[in-house]
Amino acid sequence: MAVSESPLSAIKGSVGSSIPHDSAHLHVSGEASYTDDIAEPRDLLHLAVGMSERAHARIKSIDLQPVRDAAGVVDVIVVDDIPGENNCGPVIHDDPILAPNLVQYVGQAIFAVAAETVDAARKAARLAIIDYEDLDAILDPLDAVEKQSFVLPSETLTRGDSTRALESAANRLQGRVHLGGQDHFYLEGQIAMVLPRDDGDLFIFSSTQHPGELQALIAAATGKQAKDVVVECRRMGGGFGGKESQPALIACIAALMTQRTGRACKLRLDRDDDMKMTGKRHDFVIDYNVGFDSDGHIDAVEFVFASRCGMSADLSGAINDRAMFHCDNAYYLPNLSVVSHRCKTHTVSNTAFRGFGGPQGMFGIECVMDDVARHLGIDALDVRRRNFYGVGERDITPYGQKVKDNIIVELVEQLHASSGYVSRVADIKSFNAESEILKRGIALTPVKFGIAFTATHLNQAGALLHIYTDGTVHLNHGGTEMGQGLFTKVAQVVAEELQIDIDQIKITASDTSKVPNASATAASSGSDLNGKAAQAAARTIKGRLSRFAAEHFGVAEADVVFTRNEVIVGDSSVPFKELVRLAWFARTSLSATGFYKTPDIHYDRETFSGRPFYYYTYGAAVSEVIIDTLTGENRLLRVDILHDCGKSLNPAIDMGQIEGGFIQGAGWLTTEELCWNEKGELMTYAPSTYKIPTSSDVPIDFRVQILESVANREETVFRSKAVGEPPLMLALSVYYALKDAVSSVAGDGQRVSLQAPATPEAVLNAVRALQYPDETQHA
Ligand code: MTE
Ligand code: MOS
Repeated sequence: MAVSESPLSAIKGSVGSSIPHDSAHLHVSGEASYTDDIAEPRDLLHLAVGMSERAHARIKSIDLQPVRDAAGVVDVIVVDDIPGENNCGPVIHDDPILAPNLVQYVGQAIFAVAAETVDAARKAARLAIIDYEDLDAILDPLDAVEKQSFVLPSETLTRGDSTRALESAANRLQGRVHLGGQDHFYLEGQIAMVLPRDDGDLFIFSSTQHPGELQALIAAATGKQAKDVVVECRRMGGGFGGKESQPALIACIAALMTQRTGRACKLRLDRDDDMKMTGKRHDFVIDYNVGFDSDGHIDAVEFVFASRCGMSADLSGAINDRAMFHCDNAYYLPNLSVVSHRCKTHTVSNTAFRGFGGPQGMFGIECVMDDVARHLGIDALDVRRRNFYGVGERDITPYGQKVKDNIIVELVEQLHASSGYVSRVADIKSFNAESEILKRGIALTPVKFGIAFTATHLNQAGALLHIYTDGTVHLNHGGTEMGQGLFTKVAQVVAEELQIDIDQIKITASDTSKVPNASATAASSGSDLNGKAAQAAARTIKGRLSRFAAEHFGVAEADVVFTRNEVIVGDSSVPFKELVRLAWFARTSLSATGFYKTPDIHYDRETFSGRPFYYYTYGAAVSEVIIDTLTGENRLLRVDILHDCGKSLNPAIDMGQIEGGFIQGAGWLTTEELCWNEKGELMTYAPSTYKIPTSSDVPIDFRVQILESVANREETVFRSKAVGEPPLMLALSVYYALKDAVSSVAGDGQRVSLQAPATPEAVLNAVRALQYPDETQHA
């Protein structure tokens, strides 16, 4: 056989091939089994949650008799029925599963009811008679700052002397911008089903990005140990960070009820309750103070971030840290000070959402770039380019990490040319000069996103691989599948390593009893970590097979080569499955674990310095929009994207991540608006009032390109790069294009004040503020 051809194209599903997602055929036919599709066991009880109607109140009395008496009800639990720890908080244990006598947000779980049907449970949950004594509620981050109400201490990151640099700067600007939060709106809501096992053990099906954490929290709540609890998840119908910590509440309630009743229990929130009860992206109020020269070079920036964390810490520490780490985006800021307030409000506890604080930090510096450019009357892209990180100089981040892999300059140049930026800016200028009502706008914004969990210890992963005697493979690892294609990518890595067709590999559900102590699938690191762990497991077995083949066929081990479902041994070859069978006869172990930890990262949280990120992922986007200055309505006309995936493991899947991430980001910045009323009730808890983008919001002209095979300079799995989160931030270009369109109603040098999300209402307010500057506008 010919072995000279590149093995990279020889097997089905090799690394770098654009094979479809392993479940694509099941997704589109509706046959993919999600947690709610799993066959229900005999005697299953359905649960519902009784929720707080007050933002901040003491519970004076609670009468659950009407709930217990309702038709079909089997049991009710309150806080005193929890045998173990009343906590579902991931880091700081400040998140009650069921409220003690104090409630801290509208929607907080107070009790849970189990009934024979879903309807019976949900109806009964509304019958409780609760007497509250209202307490003062803090509903806004700025109010929280004033009252010094924080879930965690404020943090500061500084470099240089920003006070001095601001004083001596030729120009200075100050500003404040409100940046909204975002609901995850995963298609599959939060759900868990718990089965009782022998001796009180619990088996949990959960839609979760972090099975290991659920296992630990359920064990603590039920007074059991990790060994008594197994959590499994085959796939989620979307997570987007909303299933990193939040599934714990749902699964803990279901587990507690199974423990009490001895029956299988399922808790599935309906959409309204899901949106009221679970955390979202943090909204931020960003204050900035910038000093710059007449060419737009930034001398100093001071930021103050106030983020809405809600009533508990959840993951807010790391999220706000990441916001601080990304307030430079792709820019060298010689003097910087960032103060980050983690505000405690009496609203639902906010959580991870694609980008994990990074988008909010980057939004801040892009605001600065835009304001500086408009103040000086320079094209905003020129100001951005003048401030990019350099190569070999101006390349140290404020937290002391050297940017070694900087490709932002070339990437932006390439996109600048391919998008026809220069001529389009001119076209838009002349269009706007002629068009009185409709105005167009354009913006090019860069992305530089740090890859790795900033908590160093989380950067580890495990895998488990079995080869059966027929040569087929069972693959398991600690990552979870939420639609991003992780399972497909990791299977490609194993197929490549063993040189067998991917259809010989069974992709299996995440399972705490197969791979223990796994980190959340998050921080975009799923394929980096689990790909490497699975590769290590495959290499272990391959090594055993090589040694066996060398001995069995009497050749040197170096002359054993795995290629295209065959193994070359000296001058002849055997099919892979034949070698496996022979090895089994010779009593060779065909099962192995694999482990990986990201090298060379370290970070001192006390000083905010070190190398928190293994590498950076880059991208850039040009968005062009049109607005109606009479109504604020707007359309995204054209988007050009160039995005870095290193050497992509699967360009088709990466393309899906880039497009999907971008659209999700565009929704965050344009149409998805969360509103709370003065009682602290979320008013936008259903698709009727909360507008996510649909297929008709995809730009009419959408040109997405993956940067041609630029290998990761770090030794990642086949030199690929993480892709899950960074593309979301490409959508900053949409917001800044809208701002550009708004600015056209006034001359250069005019400040544009546009809130995010830039809903039609916000766009109209911004336009009118420029047209009628004397009128008082509400934000
Ligand atoms: N893509 C889909 N289709 N569904 C999701 O829920 N989550 C995003 C991103 N892409 C998500 C997604 C988030 S928040 C992260 S951190 C990464 O996927 C996690 O997966 P990865 O590490 O394997 O990229
Ligand atoms: Mo993603 S926000 O890290 O789950």
